[in-house]
Amino acid sequence: MPKTIIITLFFFLLTSCSSQFTHDYESVRVDEIMENMEEPEWAIDRMFKNDMHQHPDLAKMIDRLSLETDNLITINHPDKAFNNFTNDLKLSLIEFKKSTHQSKGQLSQQWQQVKNSCRNCHEIYE
Ligand code: HEC
Repeated sequence: MPKTIIITLFFFLLTSCSSQFTHDYESVRVDEIMENMEEPEWAIDRMFKNDMHQHPDLAKMIDRLSLETDNLITINHPDKAFNNFTNDLKLSLIEFKKSTHQSKGQLSQQWQQVKNSCRNCHEIYE
């Protein structure tokens, strides 16, 4: 095979691999963020179950979810819908954090809002 064809093929391979790489990198990042969200979500569910929703750790767990949501925003996903779901989660976390002094019923309702924000995106993207 002439050298130019080999070189052309090589570059063709390289460019198709690199776009594949960008895509994979993005989903690895999302997966990583989701794994970090799993524990605080679990912990908050447990706190409600054990009437520990007034414990100061609740705010810490909300902050961890907010931090991971900020990481999700920095990915700047190519789909507008994905970013809308992320912003929706961010807003429901802010509302939830504001409600920490409220009654268990009201607070639990805000937590369900957060979980709905998780679910809405999962229904389309997971
Ligand atoms: C903007 C979209 C979006 C939002 C909002 C979102 N997720 Fe996800 N989540 C995903 C995607 C995409 C996957 C699949 C990731 C994968 O496995 O590659 C996923 C997967 C997961 C997984 C499974 C992870 C694994 O390794 O299999 C968990 C747990 C999870 N999400 C928790 C949450 C929690 C908790 C929230 C809300 C606090 C949330 N997610 C909100 C997009 C989202």
